[in-house]
Amino acid sequence: MRTIDELDVSGKRVFVRADLNVPLDGDRITDDGRIRAALPTITELRERGARVIVAAHLGRPKGAPDPQYSLRPVATRLGELLGTEVAFAADTAGESARATAAALGDGEVALLENVRFEPGETSKDDAERGELADRFAQLADLYVGDAFGAVHRKHASVFDLPGKLPHAVGGLVLAEVEVLKKLTETPDRPYVVALGGSKVSDKLAVIDNLLGTADRLLIGGGMVFTFLKAKGYEVGSSLLETDQIPVVTEYLERAEREGVEIVLPVDVVAAEKFAADAPHDAVGVDAIPADRMGLDIGPKSQALFAEKLADARTVFWNGPMGVFEMAPYAGGTRALAQALTDSGAFTVVGGGDSAAAVRALGFDEAAFGHISTGGGASLEYLEGKDLPGIDALA
Ligand code: 3PG
Repeated sequence: MRTIDELDVSGKRVFVRADLNVPLDGDRITDDGRIRAALPTITELRERGARVIVAAHLGRPKGAPDPQYSLRPVATRLGELLGTEVAFAADTAGESARATAAALGDGEVALLENVRFEPGETSKDDAERGELADRFAQLADLYVGDAFGAVHRKHASVFDLPGKLPHAVGGLVLAEVEVLKKLTETPDRPYVVALGGSKVSDKLAVIDNLLGTADRLLIGGGMVFTFLKAKGYEVGSSLLETDQIPVVTEYLERAEREGVEIVLPVDVVAAEKFAADAPHDAVGVDAIPADRMGLDIGPKSQALFAEKLADARTVFWNGPMGVFEMAPYAGGTRALAQALTDSGAFTVVGGGDSAAAVRALGFDEAAFGHISTGGGASLEYLEGKDLPGIDALA
């Protein structure tokens, strides 16, 4: 893969696909981590005299303009962080995009409106994606792929466009891949993986793969109740994916056979309903009341997980341990993050909610080895899947 050092960018229009998919509350950005992660590549290109056209998605609009998914607030924040004005194109690949791209001077930056406002971006039809990629290609001379969080998507701006312009891989994608390669190929051992998040069905493929590479798996979050049920516990009104119990049971058996330790919580915080002000208590996993739902791992489990992380040399963590957005159920996620920062291991936080949780709970990002910008992308890498957005840059 060619890097941006190998591109002659001075005076050229460079289309940079970034992942600026940040959480918003109205038009307030609640976590700008992905914007900050995009800065080094944009800054380097500017300093080398490029005319930088940034493209990104936000949320999952349905292939048509939708104001709640506008990237306009992101353009403002990007400008603040870069310390320069960022021109904003009111469309993605239409008249405004063309005029905005054409008006850029050397070292200037523009952001296009959400690429997913165009139906061609996410289309399954190669020709439809290709048509949009052609319109993108007319905006620029060169392409840089730096949207690590979206490299698992076979989308026009990620997969098709690099085939139409001289291209290079951005520094963020390179750094992310280097870390994940280390985890999959040569992790220092013990290699411990902590998985949380709500749905076990999202994590099955990665668990399948990790049973061949990790030494120990710690399981928390909403997904743990399917594991607890598979072990014969009653889980009350907790999140449960009944149809996944057989596959989880098979994983538990396989882990046992292959000597991979699967650590489940011994207690959970069980609440009367999904609300911060609901009555709640820590209860043993063998005593979850029928009318309560588990919303976090309990204090004994926090201590157990910390103990199981103490000797780790490599840790990968993806998914919160509980509903950390509500203060009464943030303890498990906070304790896990604390255990990672206390550990002497190389610690990797795998994107999405876990990265947002680390920042929302006030941890110093520098205390972790690496905080990925890609949730789904890092999981798919660890699943061993081919990533279209990386293959396209080869
Ligand atoms: C993410 O949030 O993981 C990336 O930005 C990809 O978003 P998507 O899951 O909507 O494709």
